[in-house]
Amino acid sequence: MTQDNDLTRRDFVMAAGAVTAAAATAGAPAIQKVRAANDQVQYGIIGTGSRGTYLMKHLKDIETGRCIAICDIQEDNLKKGFDTIGSKPKVFKDYHELLALKDVEAVFVLTPLFVHYPLTRDALDAGKHVFCEKCLVFKPNEVHALRADAARHPKQVLQTGLQRRYSYFYQTVKQMVDKGILGDVHHIHAQWHRNMINKPSALWTMKPGGESNINNWRIYRSMSGGLAAELTSHQVDVSDWMFGSAPEFVMGLGSLDTLRDGRDVWDNIQLIYKYPKNQKLTYSSVSTNSFCPCFNGSRAEMAETIMGTDGTIEITVGDGPNNYEPRGNPCIAWWYREPPKTVTVGAAAAKKNEPFVAGATMVAAGGNVRPIPIMTSDLDFAKDDSFFGREARFARRWLTAKGILAQEEAKNPVDTELRSFFQNCRDGGTPRANLEIGMNDAIAVILSNLAMDEGRKVHFDEIEKMGLEPEKKRT
Ligand SMILES: NC(=O)c1ccc[n+]([C@@H]2O[C@H](COP(=O)([O-])OP(=O)(O)OC[C@H]3O[C@@H](n4cnc5c(N)ncnc54)[C@H](O)[C@@H]3O)[C@@H](O)[C@H]2O)c1
Repeated sequence: MTQDNDLTRRDFVMAAGAVTAAAATAGAPAIQKVRAANDQVQYGIIGTGSRGTYLMKHLKDIETGRCIAICDIQEDNLKKGFDTIGSKPKVFKDYHELLALKDVEAVFVLTPLFVHYPLTRDALDAGKHVFCEKCLVFKPNEVHALRADAARHPKQVLQTGLQRRYSYFYQTVKQMVDKGILGDVHHIHAQWHRNMINKPSALWTMKPGGESNINNWRIYRSMSGGLAAELTSHQVDVSDWMFGSAPEFVMGLGSLDTLRDGRDVWDNIQLIYKYPKNQKLTYSSVSTNSFCPCFNGSRAEMAETIMGTDGTIEITVGDGPNNYEPRGNPCIAWWYREPPKTVTVGAAAAKKNEPFVAGATMVAAGGNVRPIPIMTSDLDFAKDDSFFGREARFARRWLTAKGILAQEEAKNPVDTELRSFFQNCRDGGTPRANLEIGMNDAIAVILSNLAMDEGRKVHFDEIEKMGLEPEKKRT
């Protein structure tokens, strides 16, 4: 009998006591500081559409920055942005005018993908720090151009909107991978499936005017990288992070089967990425079914499954809960242990094969593959191996598995990425989602679409020879 299966009152009281004691040592909530205006990073926002207003709901409560200007080419979105941020910023329809403001130290580029590069370039040239949503660039020539632009402005911060990098949960799992707790990790599977038939998303729905309507930008190749750019980009970034490098090549199949309303991006894609040490990411995004087999089917749409010889993690970022989305879905991660190695020679060998983390109390072995919810305190478990510490952590996981404790990320990774951006603007630190991370991500999207377009295996080093034509003409 494993302790995972039985909940007696005595067990509950003991475990709950351990949890309470552990929680008591976690520290009191931070008291929000009131900042002097000159202490705050004065920033502007270009693009006050869906993502812009979402980020503004987070930004308005971050005391280390102050929005002093916003820009959008659409009047209604500009008004929505003005009302959301609440700091009475100056408003512009032409972003050049916003960039001309001396007081603006930093700029958020939250526009459609096809204008990320020109806006980011102009903002860097105007001396601003830049937070540009993923993907950093749209076309191969922009890969080379932005690298050169950023090199000319080494003191300015350039961060991209890959918020999973700022999640304590994902950072915990990355440490588990790096410390070998999952054994050799060779496979990741990721999916982002949506049912756009039964639950249409306004962002992906055809609006009047077709390609000439900027609000249709997501569904036309002239402005968008389709599902690969909007969804895969987040998850291929997770895979790069966990495997510790960019892929070597990608192959895939994309097709437009159901949403045939004049759009020219695919409504379903399947991709396989091969990494240098023979690791693989298999990927799927479909638009007609939202079921997700992870977490016992309790969450829909997206997740990453990270598979090692000693265990598996299922993880998903979620979207809250927080002050703005009290009923949002929290980030969760479940850990499944592989059956222990079969022991063939004596007790000494059995001892040697003991699982790395295990107190006897938490082993769920012998074919029992019940998941162990990961708690963010796992980040410390290699350092603290006291009996009490192990028991407290076990109790938290166990109560979470029983649905008794909610598993939550202490801070929404979006808040963390925004706070971190302001901090880097002040102290010159390098963002977790920096130029290199953002560029690898953008390259993966460009090459995934090329692989599906041309029906061939596309090597990642091909990007270095792509998009050089304008430079050739000039020489
Ligand atoms: N990190 C994430 O999880 C995440 C989530 C959603 C969207 N995004 C990204 O955010 C970006 C914006 O997406 P969205 O959903 O907000 O799109 P959206 O269409 O809702 O908003 C884009 C806004 O940019 C404005 N715009 C277009 N060109 C402009 C220009 N030249 N100058 C000023 N404003 C201009 C549009 O009028 C619109 O209001 C995209 O790159 C998208 O991929 C990231």
